[in-house]
Amino acid sequence: MKPEIVVTGKLFARTQEAIEREFACHRLFEAKERAAFLKELAQRVRGLATFGPNGADGELMDALPKLEIISNFGVGVDAIDLAAAQSRGIIVTNTPDVLNDCVADTAMALVLNTLRRFPQSEGYLRSGYWATRGAYPLSAALGGKTLGILGLGRIGEAIARRALAFGMKIRYHNRRKKDVPYAYDRDPVALAKNSDVLMIATPGGAETNRLVGAKVLDALGPEGYAVNIARGSVIDEPVLLRYLREKRIAGAGLDVFADEPRVDPEFFALDNAVLLPHVGSATAETRGAMGDLQIENLRRHFAGKPVLTRVL
Ligand code: 8YV
Repeated sequence: MKPEIVVTGKLFARTQEAIEREFACHRLFEAKERAAFLKELAQRVRGLATFGPNGADGELMDALPKLEIISNFGVGVDAIDLAAAQSRGIIVTNTPDVLNDCVADTAMALVLNTLRRFPQSEGYLRSGYWATRGAYPLSAALGGKTLGILGLGRIGEAIARRALAFGMKIRYHNRRKKDVPYAYDRDPVALAKNSDVLMIATPGGAETNRLVGAKVLDALGPEGYAVNIARGSVIDEPVLLRYLREKRIAGAGLDVFADEPRVDPEFFALDNAVLLPHVGSATAETRGAMGDLQIENLRRHFAGKPVLTRVL
């Protein structure tokens, strides 16, 4: 008998196929009547596969009282109520490391595009302005600038390595100082003050909610840029929008937003923002590896072995 699991949303195609081969999957995302659907499965379902904002809250855990494991597709588990899982003795796993390179590549692409304004200059060419208005205005160089990394974890370190190759200097802020060759700032305001580009790479969740607000952006200043590849919740979005509009910071590169996939339309009018639809890890290779790890955690758990990447 295959273990029964609930899948909260349609997974990446290869992962969805693989998970359905190995487990008796129940697709919550296709349920017409959620409560009735869960009630019918309550005594049988022992696993949950989830991702992104779907997460898992205490109510869902209560509806599935036999739940033993929540396996998340993605490194960020901010949409899973960890306290609720812990108090019910439910194991939670995520997919760290396999996405570091692609997310760090995306981070550097945003730094390049935000400072060098490549998307805007491409738009200029496509509009036919090159021949009629002349050369595109000058942009800002990366080399010699300081990248301040807020959240120097595994992804932050991969970003730092890349930024060094671009001739940037690195500083960082974490709650705890690390044994790394980069200058440490005691708080996000000091980091922003000492940086040209503030790179947000910290986990989302209650502890970092709106960590980057007016004080941090004031410290970054009108010559400074903010790049966010972490979670939209880490930035105070209305404040960021105002600061971009009023040119109180020079620009922003964003892969994440407060209410995905809805993006505040005020962003669309801003010439000093480069916007991506949360594609940090979105390559076939990396999404495949994330799915493999998500499934391997479930497989090991149901085979009575320790999971590979346990959050709690
Ligand atoms: C994914 C992410 O897009 O790993 C994360 O935390 O944000 C991304 O890699 C997301 O988790 C999949 O929905």
